[in-house]
Amino acid sequence: MRRLLSSLFLCVPLMAGAQDFTTFKGHGGPIMSLDVTQQGTLVSGSFDNTVATWTDGTAHWLDGHDAAVTAITTSPSLGILSGGDDFRVLHWRDDGQPPIVLATHQGKISAIAVAPQGALVATASWDGSIQLHSFGDAQAKEPQTLVGHRSNVTDVAFAPNGTLFSASSDGTVRIWEQGADGLSSRVIANQGFGINRIVVTDTWLAYGALDGATRVIHPVTGEDIADFTLDRRPILSMAHHPQTAQLAIGDGEGYLMMIDTARWQIARDFRAMRQGPVWALAFSTDGAIIHAGGIDDVIYAWPVALLNTYDPAGGDTRSFLRDAETMSNGERQFMRKCSICHSLEPGPSRRAGPTLHGVFGRKAGTVPDYRYSALLSGAPIIWDEDTIDALFKQGPDNYIPGSKMPMQVIAKASDRRDLINFMRNAPKKD
Ligand code: HEC
Repeated sequence: MRRLLSSLFLCVPLMAGAQDFTTFKGHGGPIMSLDVTQQGTLVSGSFDNTVATWTDGTAHWLDGHDAAVTAITTSPSLGILSGGDDFRVLHWRDDGQPPIVLATHQGKISAIAVAPQGALVATASWDGSIQLHSFGDAQAKEPQTLVGHRSNVTDVAFAPNGTLFSASSDGTVRIWEQGADGLSSRVIANQGFGINRIVVTDTWLAYGALDGATRVIHPVTGEDIADFTLDRRPILSMAHHPQTAQLAIGDGEGYLMMIDTARWQIARDFRAMRQGPVWALAFSTDGAIIHAGGIDDVIYAWPVALLNTYDPAGGDTRSFLRDAETMSNGERQFMRKCSICHSLEPGPSRRAGPTLHGVFGRKAGTVPDYRYSALLSGAPIIWDEDTIDALFKQGPDNYIPGSKMPMQVIAKASDRRDLINFMRNAPKKD
Protein backbone atom coordinates (compact mmCIF):
# COMPACT_ATOMS: atom_id res chain seq x y z
CA MET A 1 0.00 0.00 0.00
CA ARG A 2 2.84 2.36 0.76
CA ARG A 3 4.04 2.01 -2.80
CA LEU A 4 0.63 2.87 -4.18
CA LEU A 5 0.22 5.89 -1.94
CA SER A 6 3.62 7.34 -2.55
CA SER A 7 3.02 7.60 -6.27
CA LEU A 8 -0.08 9.70 -5.83
CA PHE A 9 1.20 13.07 -4.81
CA LEU A 10 1.66 14.79 -8.12
CA CYS A 11 -1.31 13.26 -9.81
CA VAL A 12 -3.99 15.84 -9.24
CA PRO A 13 -6.05 16.27 -12.34
CA LEU A 14 -7.39 19.74 -13.01
CA MET A 15 -11.01 18.97 -13.62
CA ALA A 16 -12.96 21.48 -15.61
CA GLY A 17 -15.78 22.84 -13.49
CA ALA A 18 -14.54 21.32 -10.27
CA GLN A 19 -12.74 23.37 -7.68
CA ASP A 20 -9.04 23.43 -8.41
CA PHE A 21 -6.26 22.51 -6.11
CA THR A 22 -4.82 25.83 -4.97
CA THR A 23 -2.01 27.10 -2.82
CA PHE A 24 -1.67 30.08 -0.51
CA LYS A 25 1.73 31.57 -0.90
CA GLY A 26 3.53 34.31 0.98
CA HIS A 27 4.84 32.96 4.27
CA GLY A 28 8.61 32.95 4.59
CA GLY A 29 8.80 29.69 6.50
CA PRO A 30 7.04 26.42 7.27
CA ILE A 31 3.35 26.49 8.24
CA MET A 32 2.80 25.43 11.84
CA SER A 33 -0.88 26.21 12.49
CA LEU A 34 -4.12 26.84 10.60
CA ASP A 35 -7.74 27.66 11.31
CA VAL A 36 -10.73 28.97 9.36
CA THR A 37 -13.05 31.60 10.85
CA GLN A 38 -16.82 31.22 10.90
CA GLN A 39 -16.91 33.69 7.97
CA GLY A 40 -14.59 31.41 6.01
CA THR A 41 -11.30 33.30 6.29
CA LEU A 42 -8.21 31.12 6.42
CA VAL A 43 -5.77 32.09 9.21
CA SER A 44 -2.24 30.70 9.30
CA GLY A 45 0.72 30.80 11.67
CA SER A 46 4.27 30.22 10.51
CA PHE A 47 7.84 29.68 11.47
CA ASP A 48 8.39 33.18 10.02
CA ASN A 49 6.82 34.59 13.27
CA THR A 50 3.76 35.95 11.51
CA VAL A 51 0.04 35.28 11.50
CA ALA A 52 -1.67 35.74 8.13
CA THR A 53 -5.34 36.14 7.29
CA TRP A 54 -6.07 35.33 3.65
CA THR A 55 -8.51 37.16 1.38
CA ASP A 56 -8.73 36.06 -2.26
CA GLY A 57 -5.34 34.43 -1.96
CA THR A 58 -3.64 37.54 -0.59
CA ALA A 59 -2.20 37.61 2.91
CA HIS A 60 -2.82 40.30 5.45
CA TRP A 61 0.02 40.09 7.95
CA LEU A 62 -0.31 40.26 11.73
CA ASP A 63 3.08 40.92 13.34
CA GLY A 64 3.43 40.52 17.09
CA HIS A 65 5.13 37.25 17.95
CA ASP A 66 8.87 37.08 18.53
CA ALA A 67 9.13 33.44 17.48
CA ALA A 68 7.36 30.79 15.41
CA VAL A 69 3.55 30.85 15.61
CA THR A 70 2.60 27.35 16.70
CA ALA A 71 -1.10 27.57 17.55
CA ILE A 72 -4.04 29.43 15.97
CA THR A 73 -7.65 29.34 17.11
CA THR A 74 -10.49 31.52 15.92
CA SER A 75 -13.89 31.95 17.52
CA PRO A 76 -16.97 33.96 16.56
CA SER A 77 -16.92 35.89 19.83
CA LEU A 78 -13.19 36.44 20.30
CA GLY A 79 -11.73 36.58 16.80
CA ILE A 80 -8.16 35.36 16.36
CA LEU A 81 -5.97 33.93 19.11
CA SER A 82 -2.39 32.87 18.37
CA GLY A 83 0.30 31.20 20.43
CA GLY A 84 3.99 30.87 19.79
CA ASP A 85 7.44 29.67 20.63
CA ASP A 86 7.76 33.01 22.44
CA PHE A 87 5.59 31.43 25.19
CA ARG A 88 2.81 34.00 24.62
CA VAL A 89 -0.82 33.85 23.51
CA LEU A 90 -1.93 36.96 21.63
CA HIS A 91 -5.51 38.12 21.13
CA TRP A 92 -5.92 40.05 17.86
CA ARG A 93 -8.59 42.69 17.62
CA ASP A 94 -10.51 43.80 14.56
CA ASP A 95 -9.62 47.47 14.95
CA GLY A 96 -6.01 47.05 13.81
CA GLN A 97 -4.65 47.92 17.26
CA PRO A 98 -1.69 45.89 18.56
CA PRO A 99 -2.72 42.55 20.00
CA ILE A 100 -3.39 41.97 23.70
CA VAL A 101 -1.19 39.46 25.50
CA LEU A 102 -3.75 37.01 26.81
CA ALA A 103 -1.40 34.49 28.38
CA THR A 104 2.24 33.99 29.19
CA HIS A 105 3.58 30.51 29.86
CA GLN A 106 7.01 29.13 30.74
CA GLY A 107 7.24 27.14 27.52
CA LYS A 108 6.09 26.94 23.93
CA ILE A 109 2.34 27.27 23.34
CA SER A 110 0.99 24.05 21.84
CA ALA A 111 -2.76 24.70 21.65
CA ILE A 112 -5.53 27.19 22.38
CA ALA A 113 -9.20 26.27 22.83
CA VAL A 114 -12.25 28.48 23.25
CA ALA A 115 -15.17 27.05 25.23
CA PRO A 116 -18.38 26.65 23.21
CA GLN A 117 -20.00 29.33 25.38
CA GLY A 118 -17.18 31.64 24.31
CA ALA A 119 -16.33 33.12 27.69
CA LEU A 120 -13.46 30.81 28.58
CA VAL A 121 -10.12 30.22 26.83
CA ALA A 122 -7.75 27.35 27.65
CA THR A 123 -4.10 27.63 26.66
CA ALA A 124 -1.74 24.64 26.71
CA SER A 125 2.02 24.75 26.94
CA TRP A 126 5.13 22.66 26.95
CA ASP A 127 5.64 24.01 30.49
CA GLY A 128 3.24 21.21 31.55
CA SER A 129 0.35 23.49 32.46
CA ILE A 130 -2.99 24.67 31.13
CA GLN A 131 -4.24 28.17 31.86
CA LEU A 132 -7.93 29.05 31.94
CA HIS A 133 -8.82 32.65 31.12
CA SER A 134 -12.31 34.03 31.69
CA PHE A 135 -13.76 36.78 29.54
CA GLY A 136 -16.58 39.16 30.09
CA ASP A 137 -16.41 39.47 33.89
CA ALA A 138 -16.75 42.90 35.40
CA GLN A 139 -13.41 42.55 37.17
CA ALA A 140 -10.72 40.74 35.21
CA LYS A 141 -9.93 37.47 36.93
CA GLU A 142 -6.51 36.00 37.33
CA PRO A 143 -6.08 32.99 35.07
CA GLN A 144 -6.52 29.62 36.72
CA THR A 145 -3.56 27.25 36.23
CA LEU A 146 -4.28 23.55 35.86
CA VAL A 147 -1.48 21.11 36.57
CA GLY A 148 -1.64 17.35 36.49
CA HIS A 149 0.21 16.19 33.40
CA ARG A 150 3.73 15.00 34.06
CA SER A 151 5.22 16.44 30.87
CA ASN A 152 4.48 18.91 28.02
CA VAL A 153 0.81 19.58 27.45
CA THR A 154 0.44 19.11 23.70
CA ASP A 155 -3.26 19.78 23.10
CA VAL A 156 -6.37 21.06 24.83
CA ALA A 157 -10.01 20.95 23.68
CA PHE A 158 -13.53 21.63 24.94
CA ALA A 159 -16.32 19.19 24.11
CA PRO A 160 -19.51 20.87 22.84
CA ASN A 161 -20.99 20.33 26.33
CA GLY A 162 -18.17 22.43 27.80
CA THR A 163 -16.03 19.65 29.34
CA LEU A 164 -12.29 20.26 29.07
CA PHE A 165 -9.82 17.61 27.82
CA SER A 166 -6.05 17.67 27.43
CA ALA A 167 -3.25 15.54 26.00
CA SER A 168 0.40 15.32 26.87
CA SER A 169 3.79 13.89 25.99
CA ASP A 170 3.34 11.90 29.20
CA GLY A 171 1.21 9.57 27.06
CA THR A 172 -2.16 10.38 28.57
CA VAL A 173 -5.42 12.08 27.72
CA ARG A 174 -7.11 13.67 30.71
CA ILE A 175 -10.65 14.84 31.39
CA TRP A 176 -11.01 17.83 33.75
CA GLU A 177 -13.94 17.54 36.12
CA GLN A 178 -15.37 19.91 38.67
CA GLY A 179 -14.99 18.66 42.22
CA ALA A 180 -15.28 20.20 45.66
CA ASP A 181 -11.81 21.77 45.32
CA GLY A 182 -12.21 22.99 41.74
CA LEU A 183 -11.16 21.28 38.54
CA SER A 184 -9.16 18.09 38.80
CA SER A 185 -8.12 15.62 36.16
CA ARG A 186 -8.56 11.92 35.54
CA VAL A 187 -6.74 9.82 32.92
CA ILE A 188 -9.07 8.44 30.24
CA ALA A 189 -6.38 7.09 27.87
CA ASN A 190 -2.89 5.90 28.55
CA GLN A 191 -1.04 5.33 25.31
CA GLY A 192 2.47 4.92 26.68
CA PHE A 193 3.81 7.17 23.90
CA GLY A 194 3.31 10.92 23.79
CA ILE A 195 -0.07 12.04 22.50
CA ASN A 196 0.08 14.98 20.11
CA ARG A 197 -3.49 15.82 19.10
CA ILE A 198 -7.06 15.33 20.27
CA VAL A 199 -10.48 16.09 18.80
CA VAL A 200 -13.48 15.76 21.10
CA THR A 201 -17.27 15.69 20.77
CA ASP A 202 -19.83 14.76 23.43
CA THR A 203 -19.79 11.10 22.32
CA TRP A 204 -16.24 10.37 21.16
CA LEU A 205 -12.66 11.55 21.50
CA ALA A 206 -10.02 10.87 18.83
CA TYR A 207 -6.32 11.05 19.57
CA GLY A 208 -3.11 10.73 17.59
CA ALA A 209 0.24 9.79 19.11
CA LEU A 210 3.96 9.72 18.54
CA ASP A 211 3.94 5.98 17.86
CA GLY A 212 1.34 6.46 15.11
CA ALA A 213 -1.61 5.37 17.24
CA THR A 214 -4.83 6.88 15.89
CA ARG A 215 -7.66 5.85 18.16
CA VAL A 216 -11.20 6.82 19.04
CA ILE A 217 -12.51 6.31 22.57
CA HIS A 218 -15.48 7.28 24.67
CA PRO A 219 -14.69 10.67 26.24
CA VAL A 220 -15.86 9.79 29.74
CA THR A 221 -15.31 6.05 30.14
CA GLY A 222 -12.28 5.74 27.85
CA GLU A 223 -13.88 2.70 26.20
CA ASP A 224 -12.57 1.83 22.71
CA ILE A 225 -14.68 2.91 19.73
CA ALA A 226 -12.34 2.59 16.73
CA ASP A 227 -8.67 2.22 15.84
CA PHE A 228 -7.22 3.67 12.63
CA THR A 229 -3.56 3.12 13.39
CA LEU A 230 -1.55 2.57 10.20
CA ASP A 231 2.19 2.14 9.90
CA ARG A 232 2.81 5.90 9.82
CA ARG A 233 4.14 8.05 12.62
CA PRO A 234 3.99 10.38 14.37
CA ILE A 235 0.45 11.75 14.13
CA LEU A 236 0.87 15.53 14.14
CA SER A 237 -2.37 17.22 13.19
CA MET A 238 -6.14 16.74 13.26
CA ALA A 239 -9.16 18.70 12.06
CA HIS A 240 -12.86 17.94 12.43
CA HIS A 241 -15.85 19.08 10.36
CA PRO A 242 -18.93 17.91 12.29
CA GLN A 243 -21.54 18.83 9.64
CA THR A 244 -19.97 16.54 7.04
CA ALA A 245 -18.74 13.94 9.56
CA GLN A 246 -15.12 14.28 8.44
CA LEU A 247 -12.06 13.88 10.61
CA ALA A 248 -8.72 14.69 8.94
CA ILE A 249 -5.45 13.34 10.33
CA GLY A 250 -1.96 14.38 9.23
CA ASP A 251 1.26 12.55 9.99
CA GLY A 252 5.00 12.92 9.97
CA GLU A 253 5.37 11.15 6.64
CA GLY A 254 3.24 13.66 4.73
CA TYR A 255 0.02 11.66 4.46
CA LEU A 256 -3.48 12.83 5.16
CA MET A 257 -6.15 10.35 6.17
CA MET A 258 -9.83 11.30 6.15
CA ILE A 259 -12.18 9.39 8.41
CA ASP A 260 -15.94 9.21 8.00
CA THR A 261 -17.09 9.61 11.61
CA ALA A 262 -20.65 8.51 10.83
CA ARG A 263 -19.44 5.03 9.84
CA TRP A 264 -16.01 4.98 11.46
CA GLN A 265 -14.29 4.14 8.18
CA ILE A 266 -11.26 5.56 6.41
CA ALA A 267 -12.79 7.50 3.52
CA ARG A 268 -9.68 8.87 1.83
CA ASP A 269 -5.95 8.60 2.20
CA PHE A 270 -3.36 10.42 0.18
CA ARG A 271 -0.03 12.13 0.21
CA ALA A 272 -0.59 15.81 1.04
CA MET A 273 3.02 17.03 1.21
CA ARG A 274 5.84 16.64 -1.24
CA GLN A 275 8.14 16.22 1.68
CA GLY A 276 7.94 16.05 5.40
CA PRO A 277 5.28 16.37 8.01
CA VAL A 278 1.69 17.65 7.93
CA TRP A 279 1.83 20.03 10.89
CA ALA A 280 -1.44 21.86 10.44
CA LEU A 281 -4.92 21.14 9.08
CA ALA A 282 -8.15 23.12 8.78
CA PHE A 283 -11.39 22.55 6.89
CA SER A 284 -13.19 25.25 4.93
CA THR A 285 -16.53 26.22 6.50
CA ASP A 286 -18.46 23.94 4.11
CA GLY A 287 -16.03 21.04 4.60
CA ALA A 288 -15.30 20.87 0.85
CA ILE A 289 -11.65 21.94 1.18
CA ILE A 290 -8.97 20.69 3.53
CA HIS A 291 -6.07 23.10 4.06
CA ALA A 292 -2.72 21.58 4.98
CA GLY A 293 0.55 23.12 6.09
CA GLY A 294 4.01 21.72 6.67
CA ILE A 295 7.66 22.23 5.91
CA ASP A 296 6.96 24.06 2.63
CA ASP A 297 6.24 27.78 2.83
CA VAL A 298 2.90 27.29 1.09
CA ILE A 299 -0.50 26.20 2.36
CA TYR A 300 -2.11 23.54 0.19
CA ALA A 301 -5.88 23.65 -0.30
CA TRP A 302 -7.15 20.26 -1.42
CA PRO A 303 -10.71 19.92 -2.70
CA VAL A 304 -11.89 16.85 -0.80
CA ALA A 305 -13.86 15.55 -3.78
CA LEU A 306 -10.66 15.28 -5.82
CA LEU A 307 -8.85 13.14 -3.29
CA ASN A 308 -8.49 9.48 -3.88
CA THR A 309 -10.76 7.19 -1.95
CA TYR A 310 -9.23 4.66 0.33
CA ASP A 311 -8.82 1.14 -0.92
CA PRO A 312 -7.91 -1.14 1.97
CA ALA A 313 -7.06 -3.95 -0.44
CA GLY A 314 -4.44 -1.83 -2.18
CA GLY A 315 -3.86 -2.79 -5.78
CA ASP A 316 -3.79 -0.52 -8.78
CA THR A 317 -7.45 -0.56 -9.68
CA ARG A 318 -8.24 2.80 -8.14
CA SER A 319 -6.27 5.47 -9.87
CA PHE A 320 -6.00 8.89 -8.36
CA LEU A 321 -5.45 10.26 -11.85
CA ARG A 322 -8.90 9.98 -13.32
CA ASP A 323 -9.20 9.41 -17.04
CA ALA A 324 -5.45 9.03 -17.32
CA GLU A 325 -5.96 6.59 -20.17
CA THR A 326 -7.83 9.18 -22.17
CA MET A 327 -5.02 11.73 -21.97
CA SER A 328 -2.13 12.05 -24.38
CA ASN A 329 1.26 11.26 -22.93
CA GLY A 330 2.15 14.99 -22.99
CA GLU A 331 -0.94 15.98 -21.03
CA ARG A 332 -0.36 13.18 -18.55
CA GLN A 333 3.21 14.39 -18.04
CA PHE A 334 2.00 17.92 -17.39
CA MET A 335 -0.83 16.86 -15.08
CA ARG A 336 1.40 14.61 -13.06
CA LYS A 337 4.56 16.66 -12.92
CA CYS A 338 3.71 20.32 -13.39
CA SER A 339 0.03 21.14 -12.83
CA ILE A 340 0.24 21.08 -9.07
CA CYS A 341 2.36 24.24 -9.28
CA HIS A 342 1.69 25.74 -12.72
CA SER A 343 -1.41 26.81 -14.56
CA LEU A 344 -1.51 27.12 -18.36
CA GLU A 345 -4.04 29.90 -18.23
CA PRO A 346 -3.33 33.62 -18.44
CA GLY A 347 -3.55 35.83 -15.40
CA PRO A 348 -2.47 35.30 -11.83
CA SER A 349 -3.03 31.91 -10.27
CA ARG A 350 -2.70 30.79 -6.72
CA ARG A 351 -0.30 27.98 -7.48
CA ALA A 352 3.23 27.87 -6.19
CA GLY A 353 4.83 28.55 -9.60
CA PRO A 354 4.21 31.26 -12.25
CA THR A 355 1.69 30.59 -15.00
CA LEU A 356 3.20 28.83 -18.02
CA HIS A 357 0.70 30.46 -20.35
CA GLY A 358 2.71 32.00 -23.19
CA VAL A 359 5.99 30.71 -21.81
CA PHE A 360 7.45 29.96 -25.23
CA GLY A 361 9.57 32.92 -26.28
CA ARG A 362 9.27 34.51 -22.85
CA LYS A 363 12.29 35.75 -20.92
CA ALA A 364 12.78 33.90 -17.64
CA GLY A 365 11.37 35.50 -14.53
CA THR A 366 9.05 38.00 -16.17
CA VAL A 367 5.46 37.07 -15.23
CA PRO A 368 4.17 40.27 -13.59
CA ASP A 369 3.27 40.04 -9.90
CA TYR A 370 4.90 36.64 -9.45
CA ARG A 371 7.56 36.62 -6.71
CA TYR A 372 10.47 34.85 -8.38
CA SER A 373 13.67 33.93 -6.65
CA ALA A 374 16.30 36.63 -7.21
CA LEU A 375 18.12 34.12 -9.33
CA LEU A 376 15.40 33.48 -11.88
CA SER A 377 14.29 37.09 -12.21
CA GLY A 378 17.68 38.09 -13.60
CA ALA A 379 18.44 34.90 -15.51
CA PRO A 380 19.50 35.37 -19.16
CA ILE A 381 17.25 32.56 -20.38
CA ILE A 382 14.52 32.65 -23.02
CA TRP A 383 12.10 29.75 -22.55
CA ASP A 384 11.65 27.68 -25.70
CA GLU A 385 11.66 24.02 -26.71
CA ASP A 386 15.39 23.72 -26.15
CA THR A 387 15.66 25.49 -22.81
CA ILE A 388 12.60 23.75 -21.32
CA ASP A 389 13.95 20.44 -22.59
CA ALA A 390 17.30 21.16 -20.94
CA LEU A 391 15.59 22.28 -17.72
CA PHE A 392 14.08 18.84 -17.21
CA LYS A 393 16.83 16.82 -18.81
CA GLN A 394 19.30 18.21 -16.26
CA GLY A 395 16.77 19.06 -13.55
CA PRO A 396 16.11 22.60 -12.28
CA ASP A 397 18.66 22.15 -9.50
CA ASN A 398 21.40 21.71 -12.10
CA TYR A 399 20.07 23.93 -14.86
CA ILE A 400 19.37 26.95 -12.65
CA PRO A 401 20.92 26.04 -9.29
CA GLY A 402 19.28 27.92 -6.44
CA SER A 403 15.91 28.40 -8.11
CA LYS A 404 12.76 27.74 -6.13
CA MET A 405 11.70 24.97 -8.49
CA PRO A 406 11.91 21.51 -6.97
CA MET A 407 14.33 18.85 -8.16
CA GLN A 408 12.81 16.86 -10.95
CA VAL A 409 14.35 15.13 -13.94
CA ILE A 410 12.34 13.73 -16.83
CA ALA A 411 14.67 11.04 -18.07
CA LYS A 412 12.97 9.95 -21.28
CA ALA A 413 13.52 12.27 -24.25
CA SER A 414 10.14 11.25 -25.69
CA ASP A 415 8.35 12.24 -22.45
CA ARG A 416 10.02 15.66 -22.56
CA ARG A 417 9.09 16.09 -26.22
CA ASP A 418 5.46 15.10 -25.59
CA LEU A 419 5.26 17.40 -22.59
CA ILE A 420 6.62 20.36 -24.55
CA ASN A 421 4.24 19.68 -27.45
CA PHE A 422 1.33 19.56 -25.04
CA MET A 423 2.37 22.85 -23.41
CA ARG A 424 2.77 24.51 -26.83
CA ASN A 425 -0.67 23.42 -27.99
CA ALA A 426 -2.54 23.88 -24.73
CA PRO A 427 -5.81 25.68 -25.38
CA LYS A 428 -5.29 29.44 -25.34
CA LYS A 429 -8.02 31.23 -23.47
CA ASP A 430 -7.07 34.89 -23.83
C1 HEC B 1 6.33 21.96 -6.68
C2 HEC B 1 6.17 23.05 -7.56
C3 HEC B 1 6.63 22.99 -9.01
C4 HEC B 1 6.53 21.94 -9.89
C5 HEC B 1 5.97 20.56 -9.65
C6 HEC B 1 7.02 22.46 -11.15
N1 HEC B 1 7.42 23.74 -11.03
FE1 HEC B 1 8.09 24.94 -12.51
N2 HEC B 1 8.38 26.44 -11.15
C7 HEC B 1 8.06 26.37 -9.83
C8 HEC B 1 8.46 27.59 -9.17
C9 HEC B 1 8.30 27.91 -7.68
C10 HEC B 1 9.04 28.41 -10.18
C11 HEC B 1 9.67 29.77 -9.98
C12 HEC B 1 11.14 29.50 -9.66
C13 HEC B 1 11.93 30.67 -9.17
O1 HEC B 1 11.40 31.77 -8.99
O2 HEC B 1 13.12 30.42 -8.93
C14 HEC B 1 8.96 27.66 -11.42
C15 HEC B 1 9.41 28.12 -12.65
C16 HEC B 1 9.25 27.44 -13.84
C17 HEC B 1 9.64 27.95 -15.14
C18 HEC B 1 10.21 29.30 -15.41
C19 HEC B 1 9.05 30.23 -15.61
C20 HEC B 1 9.40 31.68 -15.80
O3 HEC B 1 8.46 32.46 -15.89
O4 HEC B 1 10.58 32.01 -15.84
C21 HEC B 1 9.32 26.98 -16.08
C22 HEC B 1 9.54 27.05 -17.58
C23 HEC B 1 8.76 25.88 -15.34
N3 HEC B 1 8.73 26.18 -14.00
C24 HEC B 1 8.31 24.71 -15.94
C25 HEC B 1 7.85 23.61 -15.23
C26 HEC B 1 7.42 22.38 -15.87
C27 HEC B 1 7.35 22.13 -17.38
C28 HEC B 1 7.09 21.52 -14.86
C29 HEC B 1 6.67 20.07 -14.96
C30 HEC B 1 7.56 19.19 -15.65
C31 HEC B 1 7.30 22.24 -13.58
N4 HEC B 1 7.75 23.48 -13.86
C32 HEC B 1 7.06 21.71 -12.32
C33 HEC B 1 7.45 25.34 -9.16
C34 HEC B 1 7.19 24.11 -9.73
